[in-house]
Amino acid sequence: MGEVAEATGYADLWASLHAIGRDAGTGGYRRFAWNAADLACREWFAAQAADRGLTVETDRNGNQWARWEPEPALVPGPEAKASGAGALAIGSHLDSVPDGGAFDGPLGVISSFAAVDLLRSRGWRPNRPVVIANFTDEEGARFGVACTGSRLMSGLLDADKARGLCDADGVRLADAMERVGLDPRAIGRDEDRLGDIAAFVELHIEQGRALDDVGAPVGVASAIWPHGRWRFDFDGEANHAGTTALEERRDPMLTYAHTVLSARKKARLGGALATFGRVRVDPNGTNAIPSRVRAWLDARAPDEAVLAAVVKDIREAAVQRARRDGTTLDVENESLTPVVEFDGVLRGRLSKALEPEFGTVPVLPTGAGHDAGILAAEVPTAMVFVRNPTGRSHTPHEHAETTDCHAGVRALAHIVADLAGGESGS
Ligand code: GLV
Ligand code: MN
Ligand code: MN
Repeated sequence: MGEVAEATGYADLWASLHAIGRDAGTGGYRRFAWNAADLACREWFAAQAADRGLTVETDRNGNQWARWEPEPALVPGPEAKASGAGALAIGSHLDSVPDGGAFDGPLGVISSFAAVDLLRSRGWRPNRPVVIANFTDEEGARFGVACTGSRLMSGLLDADKARGLCDADGVRLADAMERVGLDPRAIGRDEDRLGDIAAFVELHIEQGRALDDVGAPVGVASAIWPHGRWRFDFDGEANHAGTTALEERRDPMLTYAHTVLSARKKARLGGALATFGRVRVDPNGTNAIPSRVRAWLDARAPDEAVLAAVVKDIREAAVQRARRDGTTLDVENESLTPVVEFDGVLRGRLSKALEPEFGTVPVLPTGAGHDAGILAAEVPTAMVFVRNPTGRSHTPHEHAETTDCHAGVRALAHIVADLAGGESGS
């Protein structure tokens, strides 16, 4: 048995989370903001923290924080605090996309608890607080906006707008929070919490195959592509599927179908990515022409100009097609995240801390969004990726080998030991 398995009970940590929110039919996870599975994940998080003697807080925006305080003798003096010796934050999220995999999010949270165990087993103690985060609603699966917890905390998502977001059943985010005992009036930018964090390092499963291609178990992130979500409402006229002549139809499904194909083409030509992965059809009857098709475009690109141009092209193609089909189109941007370049100094520190065990680690960009990307506007942030041999993600087939997960825990322990610079070896 390796050091991580022995020091952390790593397999038990995974086993204790495994069944929460897992659909027996698909094997995928359905942990959505404030649903029963999400609440069970939050209880799991609090219990793991309590088992380790860490204090747990839920902030105004619903993010959870487990805090490992330095021993009083190691706490730096006021001068150090003034020069930025705040907490080192690690962690990730526990919510999922519909039928998500086990690793996207939970790998970062589990590895954080395991890294604390590993460091303690080596007799190491921090000289600044180390806090483990479980960010609220990273995937935006229920209310549509990704990274709600970190966006609210940093003020990037307007509190009024957030309170009014609705899920598929028309439940407002404010009401969902109230039902679980939280005060939606308190959400919004959290100066105190931001001021307490000196840096945030998020460990995450890689959502591509770049590490596998170069045979590396871990890597660090350079940048996140700009990305966003747009809601397309195609409106037409409901009518009978058996009695309405083709030339008399105003069928929004036709406009939508054409838009999906043109999104693919525009993305290919522009060097971007465009996906319609979610659609709602009204009234959704087999023998009725729909009155409305509402679909969400997820688009990402290497730079902001390309992203804007591709989305504009997709929209124009949809408008033109709508004219031909006798339908109408309304497009609403629901979120937009600019390009994120991770802090160069912090990234350099990570690479250096990993070098003794892992050699020169790969540095890679990603098209996936993360709370570390959102918080990058406020504090230095960085990311560590763990190899994903198939590159698949947002599916139950997402996978990382246990030996690589252990490597991730050791990597995080090296980083914490370096950045929260306490006593004893790492
Ligand atoms: C988060 O996983 C995203 O959609 O990028
Ligand atoms: Mn994800
Ligand atoms: Mn994630």
